[in-house]
Amino acid sequence: MKGKHPNPFHLPWIIAGVFIALVLIGTAFLPNSTAVAGPALAQAPDNLQLSAAELSDSACLGCHGKPGLITTLPDGEKLSISIDGGLYQQTVHGNQGLPCTTCHISITGYPHPELTIDTHKEFSFEATQACQQCHAEQYAAVKDSIHMQAHEAGNVLAPACTDCHNPHTQTLLVDKNGNTLGEARVNIPLTCSKCHNEIYGQYKGSVHGSSLLLEGNIDTPTCIDCHSVHNVSAIDNAFRLRSPGICSKCHADKALMDKYGLSSKVNSTYIADFHGTTVTIFEKTAPDQQTNTPVCIDCHGVHNMTRSDAPANGLHIKSNLLKTCQKCHPDASENFPASWMSHYTASPTKAPLVFYVNLFYKIMIPLVIGVMALYVISDYIRRLIDKRKGVKES
Ligand code: HEC
Ligand code: HEC
Ligand code: HEC
Ligand code: HEC
Ligand code: HEC
Ligand code: HEC
Ligand code: HEC
Ligand code: HEC
Ligand code: HEC
Repeated sequence: MKGKHPNPFHLPWIIAGVFIALVLIGTAFLPNSTAVAGPALAQAPDNLQLSAAELSDSACLGCHGKPGLITTLPDGEKLSISIDGGLYQQTVHGNQGLPCTTCHISITGYPHPELTIDTHKEFSFEATQACQQCHAEQYAAVKDSIHMQAHEAGNVLAPACTDCHNPHTQTLLVDKNGNTLGEARVNIPLTCSKCHNEIYGQYKGSVHGSSLLLEGNIDTPTCIDCHSVHNVSAIDNAFRLRSPGICSKCHADKALMDKYGLSSKVNSTYIADFHGTTVTIFEKTAPDQQTNTPVCIDCHGVHNMTRSDAPANGLHIKSNLLKTCQKCHPDASENFPASWMSHYTASPTKAPLVFYVNLFYKIMIPLVIGVMALYVISDYIRRLIDKRKGVKES
């Protein structure tokens, strides 16, 4: 019996021994605090040297595949340098078998070459130059965008490709026909919200945004339907004047609008209206010139657009409508909007007077011109006949 149980007086020594062993093992793997701060890389031996040829993906992931690794950039910012190798295999890039060094051209060995940048943003813009090898079209579009202009003007918030796409986790966004996949489409506002959070907040509550984000309805516009993706343009007067054309891509599509019981004539009625007529002329002749004539968004709002029957600012509600007109017609009284056709085309029930006056002209003008033409022609024939008769008789 005795021999089978450890002597209880030895237990403290055993515990102490295990503790000392753990500490010794631990210090052997402690990070070199100058290169890596915080949760750290399993220490590579001090004088480890790896040539470019030895840096296979599995070598990269041998170090970078561990979770929780952090490095410190020259400006002091911490950067996570852990890459999930398993996840990478499932990405658009990993499943094509792209080696890490396709993009990481500057990593030519270990220790890595000294960084030539100070900040994370500079690192992003430098690293994403590699994208143009395969995505030249998107790269060129971004070059023309307001985002790139902001970057070049020194705006440190301007996005690099990697603010919208993580190359190590990227999955497919568009199908073979170039249509954005449903899930990717629903995620777009969230991508933009990283920097345009206030607009995202408005959009989320709007008729378009709530339909997309809450119901997953991909018929409704996401940010890029109105702004484009890579070549996002500035919001200037030319954009304002062409904005009705953006709305009418969907709102003049009868099949689409029928699904929602909405009129598909809002664009044609708008253009026929004095407001739209003026805007159309400006767009064609002087797109840079300021006009105070309303486009769709002046009446409907932009990112906070609601249904016409929404109590807060829906335009079916008379007081809401009047407020909208008063922005530009400050003297407008309660009856002012009533005299206006809105998007309606006149019919025997809606604006019958306008309808019948139109109808009258529609019938009278061809009739008068037709009778006139008949008169002229018959007169001409008559003269011809008279002339011939005259020739024969003489
Ligand atoms: C022996 C371990 C090790 C290997 C192998 C390794 N790295 Fe690193 N990597 C590091 C450490 C440590 C850092 C932190 C900065 C430093 O010490 O250079 C780092 C930093 C980076 C960075 C951040 C930018 C920079 O240069 O600091 C990138 C990008 C990177 N590694 C990519 C790679 C790629 C791609 C491979 C394979 C081709 C690779 N690494 C192989 C240890 C390694
Ligand atoms: C399609 C191009 C591409 C491929 C392939 C790629 N990377 Fe990267 N990687 C980038 C870009 C771009 C950045 C800069 C990201 C940023 O803006 O922070 C980056 C950043 C890094 C960083 C620094 C941490 C970070 O996220 O900024 C590490 C470490 C890294 N990559 C390792 C790897 C490893 C390991 C592989 C292969 C398993 C790999 N990369 C494959 C493009 C790529
Ligand atoms: C402001 C965010 C943003 C930036 C910056 C951005 N993209 Fe995109 N990109 C998107 C969105 C959103 C989509 C998917 C929507 C779509 O095209 O239907 C996309 C789609 C893509 C596609 C799929 C094909 C296509 O054109 O739709 C590629 C490839 C791509 N981006 C590469 C890039 C590259 C390379 C850069 C940098 C030069 C970049 N992107 C910069 C947001 C961005
Ligand atoms: C060596 C070529 C190569 C490089 C470099 C490269 N990519 Fe790709 N990328 C691809 C391929 C191939 C696909 C898959 C396209 C497909 O399956 O339709 C892809 C897909 C994508 C997609 C999804 C496209 C879609 O059709 O849905 C995005 C976004 C993307 N890459 C962004 C980037 C970014 C950002 C960089 C730079 C950090 C980059 N890529 C660098 C080859 C590359
Ligand atoms: C990483 C930050 C960032 C992300 C992500 C981002 N933007 Fe921007 N955006 C900016 C900055 C910075 C500007 C320039 C702001 C300025 O000049 O006032 C800008 C400008 C714009 C402008 C022009 C504004 C004007 O007044 O002319 C539009 C439109 C725009 N972004 C749309 C988008 C859309 C759509 C997305 C998503 C696909 C997006 N942005 C994602 C940072 C970002
Ligand atoms: C239905 C079309 C439409 C959608 C959807 C849309 N926008 Fe806009 N956006 C516009 C129009 C039109 C303007 C110009 C407003 C003006 O002239 O006052 C604008 C203006 C902007 C501006 C610059 C003006 C400002 O208020 O700062 C930014 C930035 C912007 N939008 C970003 C976004 C983002 C991010 C999303 C998605 C969450 C989005 N937009 C969704 C049509 C749209
Ligand atoms: C990508 C297509 C698309 C674009 C672009 C678009 N819309 Fe819409 N819009 C819709 C759809 C679909 C609905 C119906 C949503 C629902 O009921 O769930 C809608 C609903 C509306 C409504 C609410 C109608 C009601 O009373 O129920 C208004 C107002 C509206 N849009 C105005 C605009 C304006 C103004 C623009 C341009 C700045 C615009 N839309 C751009 C697709 C679009
Ligand atoms: C001068 C103000 C004004 C302008 C400009 C204007 N709208 Fe409207 N819109 C209204 C009013 C008011 C209503 C509610 C009309 C009603 O049903 O009585 C409305 C209703 C709508 C509806 C709902 C239609 C339905 O079937 O219920 C849509 C969609 C719409 N407008 C889109 C547009 C688009 C797109 C443009 C630009 C091409 C535009 N609007 C320009 C004032 C305006
Ligand atoms: C963004 C400014 C703006 C808004 C909002 C606006 N209008 Fe106008 N409206 C104008 C301008 C400018 C003209 C004169 C130029 C023209 O004919 O286009 C005009 C002309 C008119 C006219 C022609 C008679 C006249 O006074 O010259 C009527 C009627 C009219 N608007 C009704 C309305 C109604 C009703 C609303 C509200 C639903 C409204 N407007 C909202 C700017 C606006």
